[in-house]
Amino acid sequence: MKLAVLSDIHANYRALEAVLRDAAAAGAEAYLALGDHVTDGPYPRRTLERLYALEREAPTFLLRGNREEYMLDHRAGKGGSWLPGTESGSLHYTYSQLLPADLDRFAGWSSVLPVDLGNGARLLAVHGSPENSRERLLPFDGATHRYLEACPYPALLCGHSHQAFLYPYQGTLLANPGSVGLSAMGSPEARYALMTYEAGYWQCSLRAVPYDVEALVEDIRQCGLDQSAAVWTRCVVATLRTGINQIIPTGNLAYKLAQERGTGGTWMDIPQACWEEAARRLQVPPIGP
Ligand SMILES: [Fe+2]
Repeated sequence: MKLAVLSDIHANYRALEAVLRDAAAAGAEAYLALGDHVTDGPYPRRTLERLYALEREAPTFLLRGNREEYMLDHRAGKGGSWLPGTESGSLHYTYSQLLPADLDRFAGWSSVLPVDLGNGARLLAVHGSPENSRERLLPFDGATHRYLEACPYPALLCGHSHQAFLYPYQGTLLANPGSVGLSAMGSPEARYALMTYEAGYWQCSLRAVPYDVEALVEDIRQCGLDQSAAVWTRCVVATLRTGINQIIPTGNLAYKLAQERGTGGTWMDIPQACWEEAARRLQVPPIGP
C-alpha cells in the first residue's frame, strides 16, 4: 500500500491538484492530509471539495489543523472579531466562503489520528504534536524525542511547520511532508511525501512538485484577497514565490512595533500601520500588477 501524505494545503487548489496528479502517477493508493487545508489561499471550498472527492475515490484520512480550529472557534464566538481590510481579513474571507457542512466536518475531525492500513502498516498522524495542534515537532529536540519514545507505532507523521524532513529516532520514523500550498523550503514547489510499508518498516520519500504559482497569484487578485488582507496577503504571495516564509518575520516585527507603541495584545490586535511598517522594513515586495 503506497500512502501519499499531504499537509498544510492552505487553500492552494492548484498546488493540491499538481500533488494529486504526481501522487497518482507514482501509484498512491491511499491519502492522508494532516490539516490546515484552508486559510491564506483563494480556494477554500474548491480545496475541501477536492478532499471530499478524494475520500470517495480512495482510502483517505483527514485531520484538523489549527486553522480549521480557528474556524470552529469563530463559529463558537471565540477568538475576537475578524474584519476585512485588516490582517484578520484573510481569516474573514475563508470563513465567509465555508458552508455550515464544512464546519461540521471540521468538528468531526481530530488533530491526532492513529492510521491503520492493514498488514501491520500503522502510524500516528498529527497536525502539530500529539498534545498540541500548534506545537512544532523538530528533529534533535527533547520534546520530540519524548513523543517518539511514547509513539506506539513505527512512524509519527506531523505537519504545521511547513518544513519537510525525515528523522529516524530509536526505531521510530518522524516525518514531516512539508506544505503543499505554502512551502517554506526555499523554493516554490509544492511538497508532500510518499510512504510504503515493507517488512516492518516505513520507507518515506519527500517530493517537490512544480505548479503554476503566478496563476495562483492571479486567483488571489481575482478573489480580492490582495485588498481584503493587504499586508498579510503580500507576505503570503512573497512566500509562495520564494519558498521563504515571509509571514512569520513580518508578523513578529509588526508585533514588536505594536508593543513599542503600547498597542496590540495578539497578532489580531496589531494596528495596520505596524504591519505596513514591518513589511516596509523587511522589504516584502508588492504583489505587483
Ligand atoms: Fe498549522
